[in-house]
Parts: sequence; C-alpha cells; structure tokens
Amino acid sequence: MQQHSTKPEDLLRLVDVEQGLVDRRIYSDEDIYQLELERVFARAWLFMCHDSQIPNPGDFFMTFMGEDRVIVVRDNDGQPQVLVNSCRHRGNAICRADEGHLTSFMCTYHGWTYDLTGALVGVPGFKEVYHEELDRESWGLIKAGQVDTYKGFIFATMDSEAPSLDEFLGEVGRMNIDLIAVRGTLKVAGGVEKYTIPCNWKFAADNVWDFYHAGITHASAGMAGWNQRPGSSRPSNSSARFSAPNLAVLGEYGHAIGGPEVSEAATALRPAYDNEWRKWPEAKQVLGEVGIRAGGNVHIFPHMWIQQNYWMVALRVPKGATKTEIWWFTFTPEEMSPEDRRAIVRRSSGHNGPAGLTEIDDGENWNESTRGTRGVISREFPLHYAMNLGHGEVIQDELGPTRIETSYNEHAQLWHYRSWSEFMAAESWPELKANHSTPEGVL
Ligand code: FES
Ligand code: FE
Repeated sequence: MQQHSTKPEDLLRLVDVEQGLVDRRIYSDEDIYQLELERVFARAWLFMCHDSQIPNPGDFFMTFMGEDRVIVVRDNDGQPQVLVNSCRHRGNAICRADEGHLTSFMCTYHGWTYDLTGALVGVPGFKEVYHEELDRESWGLIKAGQVDTYKGFIFATMDSEAPSLDEFLGEVGRMNIDLIAVRGTLKVAGGVEKYTIPCNWKFAADNVWDFYHAGITHASAGMAGWNQRPGSSRPSNSSARFSAPNLAVLGEYGHAIGGPEVSEAATALRPAYDNEWRKWPEAKQVLGEVGIRAGGNVHIFPHMWIQQNYWMVALRVPKGATKTEIWWFTFTPEEMSPEDRRAIVRRSSGHNGPAGLTEIDDGENWNESTRGTRGVISREFPLHYAMNLGHGEVIQDELGPTRIETSYNEHAQLWHYRSWSEFMAAESWPELKANHSTPEGVL
C-alpha cells in the first residue's frame, strides 16, 4: 500500500475545515492508523473506568489505551494506578481477567511478581541465577504518564507532558461528565457489554452527533415498536425533524455536545427518572443554562461517548484500522429505587449494545462506509461533512460555553475531525497546545 505522508501540512490537509470535506484514507490507511495510535491514543487523556468499579485496594479493571492493554488497579493508598499489562521479562500478560481483586500480579511464565503500584517485588532465582545484580527498581511495570479522576471518572494519559486532566477537559469536557455525574452517586451496573464491528473507530465516534440518520437507519427499530409511543420525541422519518432546535457546543481539544435541545414535549414523554434531575437546583447550578438545555449527545475526544439519555458511556476501542470494539457501561444512581434502576438497565440494553435495537443498524452502516474507503478509486473522493456549514447563530455569552443554536447540522463532527487532524499534525503536547483551534477562534 502507498505510504501516506506524515508531514504536518499533509496531515492537516486530510480534513478540509473550510469546505467540510474529510479524506477517506483516514478510515483505512494503515500508516495513518499507526500514527493515530501514537499521536491520538498515546497522547490524549482517555477514560479508563469509574471509581465504583474498583472501590477497594486490590480491585482492578482491564482496559486499553490504543492497543496497549492496561490494568486500572486501586493501590493500598487508595490511588488508582494504570499499569501496562505486559511483564518486563518476556512481555507475557501479568493479568488475564477483565476485572477482579488481587494483592499482587504474578506473571505465569516465570513468576516475576509486581505489587499494586507496578513495582517488581519478586524474582524467582534472584540470588541464585541473577546474582542479585538485577536492578529491580528499573524493571517495574510500564505505567501511564498521568492518572487523574474527575467526579468518579478515572482518566489516564500515556504522555507525561500532557496538560492536567482539568485543562484537557476544559469547560465543555467537564460539562459533558457533569451531565451524568450530577444525577446522584453513580455506580456501574455489573459488567461491560463488548462487541466488535468491522469499521474504523472514527465512523463510530462521529455518528454520536448524527441525528440525521436516525429516521432512516433506525426505521426498522421504529417499525418493531421501539421508542414509538404516540407523540414520541424520537425523530420520525419526516421533514419536520429537520427544523427541531439543535445545539452544538464545541470545546477545546475536540470535546463536543450536539443534538436537539431539551424540549417540554420530549421531556414529558420520557420516564420520570430521565428528567427529574434537570429540575434540581444543584443540577442547574453545576450545568448552567446551556448544560441544562443540552439534550443531545456528548463526547470526550477521542472516543468516549456519554449517552446521557440512556445513562450510558460507550468507548470506541480501536483494534486495527478497520476493526473497532464497542464497550458499553451503564450507570445508575444509588439514590434511585431498585425498580427504576432495573428499568434503566433494561431500557439501555434494549437500545444500545449487542442486544439493542439501534447500534446493530449503525454498525452495518459503519462497516460499509469503512469498506467504501479502501478502493484505489473511491479513496480519492472525500466525504461530505458540511451540513449547515456557515449557517446557524454563533452565541458567546455568560450563560455557558460558545455554541451554535441551529437546526440539524454537522458542526460537532467537523469539529471532531479538525481536532483529530491537529492531534495528528503535532509532534508533541507542547506543539499541540500552542497550535490547536479553540471554538472562539474559529466560529
Ligand atoms: Fe514474565 Fe518471564 S515473562 S516472568
Ligand atoms: Fe444510530
């Protein structure tokens, strides 16, 4: 395959922000994929897991940073540690379970043993065959560059030069998490749903803000009766849906909210537990006027979707240029009745995940879209992300972050790709910090 240039100017050209065009090669080119593992996934802060999944010292959860498999484990001081799941001797996995509890990690190949902070604390034959010359302090597990938590959501970055989590999230990233964290003492309902779709992870990510597709792609789910109560808020396949008031909130480093505003009509049709929290004074105080009105989908760059209307978080975990694992976490607040908590889990898994009626339809589209980027002819023709470009009212005021109030649009998608190209073109975090776009600068 032809090698793609990694010159910054060529990488930036892959996304034409003036015309809203995206080069198809970013969805299947192997060189671009390898570079994004380095410059996006080994650089950005990534969601690891929620505090409630590892409440006690020794509790762990296995996840990924790009294709590096990592263990998030609570150490004996109560701090989450993020350790690469690969023994420093021959690289074997030092943990093989998705989650659980332990006091140390013993590699099952030759028995090197690490404590909960990743320090190498046991080496069979240390005296007899290593002659006490192995510097154990230098041979601990590889660790994430930084780990931090925002309102119970644990994040890590491989890059020790990255700005703090607080700075990376910024006003919009924090608001995105607040939209679910404000609802009570959250707990992840047991287990994480996982399944694989043969698509590039970015098609799964940009679909988050795509309200244009629902009436077409999910028509069969509607015909089967899903979310089709009389007067349902779900977009129907009629042109009336195009004029629904939409809100696009764009944040630094690619975070965004996009989709319909919360409306009285839509609110009245959802289960009470879905809406009550928006009336709480403390929710209004945390989220502000804009956050309270944001009924669309919220996303933390690069691959964390907080699907607020179903109390879920999804990750689009890359497994190659054309393969993506989808992970779904479902959250319920401790303060809620057991009946309502069960109702949330039922409704959420009926909508999303492998048993859900919607993302299976979506996955078919992403699979075929990815296939459509591989041909030597088709890949020369860019994809179109210009809906509403140049339209919509840009608002900057004290009510909340910079936003566009408009109808259906692709502003958040294009913003995501713009940020992606800036991550890709920068050689380092200091360079990215100096050169990235801010919403105020481009809208
Ligand atoms: Fe882990 Fe040898 S590979 S002890
Ligand atoms: Fe969909």
